[in-house]
Amino acid sequence: MPVQATNRVPSRLHELSAEEQTVYRQLDPTKIPQHVAIIMDGNGRWAGKRALKRFLGHQQGAESVQYVVETASRIDLPFLTLYAFSLENNLRRPKAEVSFLMKLLKSYLIGNVKRMNDNNVRIAYVGRISQLPNEVQETMHWAAEQTARNTGTTLTLALNYGARGEIVDAVRSALTRLAAEQNGTVPLNALLAGLTEEHVSRALYTAHMPDPDLVIRTSGEMRISNFLLWQIAYSEIYVTERLWPDFRGKHLLEAIQQYQGRERRFGGLANATEDKAVEPEQALVR
Ligand code: FPP
Repeated sequence: MPVQATNRVPSRLHELSAEEQTVYRQLDPTKIPQHVAIIMDGNGRWAGKRALKRFLGHQQGAESVQYVVETASRIDLPFLTLYAFSLENNLRRPKAEVSFLMKLLKSYLIGNVKRMNDNNVRIAYVGRISQLPNEVQETMHWAAEQTARNTGTTLTLALNYGARGEIVDAVRSALTRLAAEQNGTVPLNALLAGLTEEHVSRALYTAHMPDPDLVIRTSGEMRISNFLLWQIAYSEIYVTERLWPDFRGKHLLEAIQQYQGRERRFGGLANATEDKAVEPEQALVR
């Protein structure tokens, strides 16, 4: 019998650990999210609880990144975005901590590109990258290039990232593009009237990705901290008390399990909702 050519990539589910497989078996494989975004928090507290310096918490946090990325790639999660360094971190943390985080990022990329390739993971970035130290930018470009041909999970690191800044950048670039399309002949009020959500979405740093289905925040804080504000309008949010350095692939799968139990409405009604009792006009006159 002729062997049929197929483009299907063989499943890597057997590479999940036994613990991960136990959680995975409870998931609906047809409802794996397209995009999970994570606010990695609690590195400092993890270190503090052990009377260690904060930088050791960050170092341990970088280990968690790799565990989680590999589990994401094994379940074929298309997009994983990690909030690794915010604009505010850059401005408000002590210089020594910022400089350590930059060194850690560099050594993380150098040390893990081979594993990314083994796991078919492509590395990308969002944020004001041009403001990062040149040598860090060089390593980032190198790692992106080395993994550019991979076709599995896209790992996006948000670096020197702030969502308000991103929205400002996007509106500026969308208006500039609109003006250029009209050869600069259209008055400002007409340009503004023509600006749509679609124009802004297409000008965001994340234009090439679907919006996150699920946002995870570790360490129990109930905040979004200027992360992907536009893109998470309808995302499900999952907060765990677990500190980032203790977060593993199994915990990613648990978050996905909870996500699968949620009912997403996007501003509409629940599927089962049928208001049979009265017509809206009748309800008003009662
Ligand atoms: C929050 O912990 C985390 C960060 C500021 C940065 C995240 C960085 C990492 C996970 C490590 C490096 C990442 C890569 C991609 C190599 P925190 O310091 O705010 O913790 P705290 O709130 O407990 O003080």
